[in-house]
Amino acid sequence: MGKVILLSGSPRMKSNTVEALNICAEAIKENSIDTEVISLKGLKIESCMACNGCVGTGNCVLGDGLETVIDKIKEADGFIPAAPVYFGTARGDIMSALQRIGKVSKGNGKFLSWMVGGPIAVARRAGQTLTLQEMAMFFLINDMIIVGSDYWNTIFALAEETVTDDAEGVATIQKFGENVANLIKKIKD
Ligand SMILES: Cc1cc2nc3c(=O)[nH]c(=O)nc-3n(C[C@H](O)[C@H](O)[C@H](O)COP(=O)(O)O)c2cc1C
Repeated sequence: MGKVILLSGSPRMKSNTVEALNICAEAIKENSIDTEVISLKGLKIESCMACNGCVGTGNCVLGDGLETVIDKIKEADGFIPAAPVYFGTARGDIMSALQRIGKVSKGNGKFLSWMVGGPIAVARRAGQTLTLQEMAMFFLINDMIIVGSDYWNTIFALAEETVTDDAEGVATIQKFGENVANLIKKIKD
């Protein structure tokens, strides 16, 4: 059937980023691919220490909880990270997580290769496209496949859980989810 992991980098309880990922996950499930939305909320995500402790051992050795997320990504066919924009760029936690996930993949058989997905950025007003570009760098160095939509994967939202006020953003994310699911099905055929 296939599975997509959707990872939020927001620390908020009622998060717009999580709400955006839930909308995307619904579109993926409607197209017969399983999903799991995971949040970094509550975790204290360290940056990569360049210790090489992951090389050949299968996972990161920092022990802050990201290793559980990495184990789930290893089993998936798709991966969608999403970030709230903080001061014009992606919130730090999600970039730290992506850099460590990429390092573990490269040191352990490149499990990210040909994984399908793409980034989503959520913000009040500005910085979404640069945030998408930052996260796209992770896909492009890890032999992954970025899927498009009818617009860039950006949502405008400030107050908690107001993502659905941005109808065009929601439609873009839904179309993106549909495209991710359909490409996974084609690859797995
Ligand atoms: C420290 C901080 C910096 C922010 N910087 C920006 C910014 O540069 N551009 C913007 O449009 N919104 C900015 N915001 C607003 C958030 O991106 C917005 O509230 C978003 O919906 C938060 O997503 P979340 O609910 O998933 O955490 C910032 C918020 C915080 C807390």
